[in-house]
Amino acid sequence: MARVAIVTGGTRGIGAAISVVLKDQGYAVAANYAENAAAATAFSNETGIPSYKWDVGDPEACLAGVRQVEQDIGSVDILVNNAGVTRDGTLHRMSYDDWNDVLRVNLGGCFNMARCTFGGMRDRRWGRIVSISSINGQAGQFGQVNYSAAKSGILGFTKALALEGAKYGVLVNAIAPGYIATEMVGAIPAPILEKIVAKIPVRRLGEACEIARGVAFLTSESAGFVTGSTLSINGGQYMH
Ligand SMILES: NC(=O)c1ccc[n+]([C@@H]2O[C@H](COP(=O)([O-])OP(=O)(O)OC[C@H]3O[C@@H](n4cnc5c(N)ncnc54)[C@H](OP(=O)(O)O)[C@@H]3O)[C@@H](O)[C@H]2O)c1
Repeated sequence: MARVAIVTGGTRGIGAAISVVLKDQGYAVAANYAENAAAATAFSNETGIPSYKWDVGDPEACLAGVRQVEQDIGSVDILVNNAGVTRDGTLHRMSYDDWNDVLRVNLGGCFNMARCTFGGMRDRRWGRIVSISSINGQAGQFGQVNYSAAKSGILGFTKALALEGAKYGVLVNAIAPGYIATEMVGAIPAPILEKIVAKIPVRRLGEACEIARGVAFLTSESAGFVTGSTLSINGGQYMH
């Protein structure tokens, strides 16, 4: 039986690349999304990977979504917490909604999804959880106190859960991408994006598949001694 993987936000951008690479590795993949049904349908038709709509920020919806995947495909062995949103603005302009939405989806989503899947992984003595953080969670970013806090929170979440999972064979890691060519980055005004690219030592944006290959490694048997770590994939833009 193929191992079963859920990729949140798995129908577009980095998540879509992750879903496809995991399918190519031989996993049975379920790709989750929030609202963009047209993109999800196109993705499923193109790849043969089923897509499932639920809001990762809603604990009850996560429970129902995971149950549906388990009924359709099987028990979840691999969770990739990729779903994320931005609501940028400097602190004095940032509304409480902007703060809450980003924390609820980007960090709360990791908790909600792990809460539904970790127990089964622990009982079966094998599991992998990979959460997508960001260079902006490591370095901070102007106009992103909400996003930087959520993405930094993912790193603490990862280390703490790695300690809980280690003796049960459940490995928990994070990836911190730099700037990757997706719609999220496409929304940045061109003059600002040019300045960002000029600061990347390899002088280009990353590709979604370059993050997906990191996930493939961390979910593989080859990564059996890797847990609680953060893999930075950022073209040398931030080193620590
Ligand atoms: N792009 C970058 O340069 C970059 C850099 C560092 C980190 N990241 C992180 O990498 C991840 C993917 O980024 P991306 O650029 O690929 O983003 P994207 O193109 O905007 O795609 C985001 C995906 O997340 C889904 N999503 C959003 N809110 C959701 C929710 N509440 N419940 C379930 N799914 C939800 C979206 O679903 P719909 O299709 O339904 O909208 C979509 O599939 C994010 O966590 C982001 O913060 C990105």
